[in-house]
Amino acid sequence: MASKKSLGVGMIGHNFMGKAHSNAWRQAPRFFDLPVDIRLDTICGRSPASVAKAATQFGWQNTSTDWRSVVADPAIDIVDICTPNDSHAEIAIAAAAHGKAILCEKPLALNVEQARQMVAAVKKARVVNMVCHNYRRIPAIALAKRMIDDGAIGNRIYHYRARYAQDWITDPTFPLVWRLQSKISGTGAQGDIDAHIIDLGRYLVGEIKEVCGLMETFIRERPLPGDPKKLGKVTVDDAVSWIGRFKNGALANLEATRFALGRKNHITIEINGSKGSLAFNFEDMNRLEYYNNDDPAARRGFRSILVTEPVHPYTGAWWPPGHIIGYEHTFVNTFADFIQAVATNKSIHPTFEDGLQNEKVLAAINQSAKSRQWVKLN
Ligand SMILES: NC(=O)c1ccc[n+]([C@@H]2O[C@H](COP(=O)([O-])OP(=O)(O)OC[C@H]3O[C@@H](n4cnc5c(N)ncnc54)[C@H](O)[C@@H]3O)[C@@H](O)[C@H]2O)c1
Repeated sequence: MASKKSLGVGMIGHNFMGKAHSNAWRQAPRFFDLPVDIRLDTICGRSPASVAKAATQFGWQNTSTDWRSVVADPAIDIVDICTPNDSHAEIAIAAAAHGKAILCEKPLALNVEQARQMVAAVKKARVVNMVCHNYRRIPAIALAKRMIDDGAIGNRIYHYRARYAQDWITDPTFPLVWRLQSKISGTGAQGDIDAHIIDLGRYLVGEIKEVCGLMETFIRERPLPGDPKKLGKVTVDDAVSWIGRFKNGALANLEATRFALGRKNHITIEINGSKGSLAFNFEDMNRLEYYNNDDPAARRGFRSILVTEPVHPYTGAWWPPGHIIGYEHTFVNTFADFIQAVATNKSIHPTFEDGLQNEKVLAAINQSAKSRQWVKLN
């Protein structure tokens, strides 16, 4: 049998997301029936020693410490951006100019202006582009989307409530890492975790029309990573709460915080429509709660759907019914769809345009919190 054509990937950044992405590049063609194979061609980082170690551990063929040479390399078809937020725009724009397909981690950019430039670059180059909002492809979330589109909770949505809560920076001695410096990260809880539940709101409910936000930085100085005796200024938000309105009239009520002790990576969502409700909890990610108001009155109640049947999105590629999946599979599902799109030269959601819309919502919340006013999105 003739072997499939293979696409070469160049991955920039190799720590948390680099590990998740390496696994997904390797597994996607193994579990999904894709028209092409994937070659883990080049892994790129700043230090030769750590990039060499990561290459061995994650199974990459070549290493580099210069992302510019990776995005220019003719052996690379796909550029995968897993670096901190301040380098997404520069790498993506250069990759687009070299005609590469691009998968970029979220948030797309540091701000709206950079995101606009990235959208312009991929449109001009006509390259396949995607932002890695992997939570869209949790089977339970994809099923929620399908059920909403099928009218399972009615033709009107009243509420989208979402919470993304963590606790990893509650200790005041925790150092001033890049995620706490606006120059590198843009924003704090906003771009790091609010961006994910904004994306899910846009995916499941629709475009956001206006917002009213509240942001706080609880601990304003922290030890410098290289010199713990010195303190540096925290220049991002620790937590954000906001309400808003979708264009279709639904109300939004969201919270993102890294100060919820006991909450590690807690994502909860509830959507209430005119005929029913859906609820999701990431800590029980193989389940989707569904309330159907059309059920006989005596039997109404939330049912818990175990989203592992072959009829459910993505699950047929994995295991027999009831054999649950986890965090890493959200990336594999995402990458399988991306690879399929690259192989067939089709658009795939969420695109950089979605990343730009997300940045606009983040900026509007920021502006609202600072001005203590409602802000409309255009
Ligand atoms: N999709 C998700 O759920 C999710 C989860 C975590 C992080 N992220 C996003 O992924 C990105 C990376 O986050 P992370 O947690 O993996 O960060 P990290 O700090 O763990 O890793 C960053 C990596 O980038 C490398 N790097 C930095 N500058 C570089 C440069 N100029 N050239 C080459 N390599 C460079 C570092 O060496 C490191 O390997 C961020 O944008 C973050 O917001 C997304």
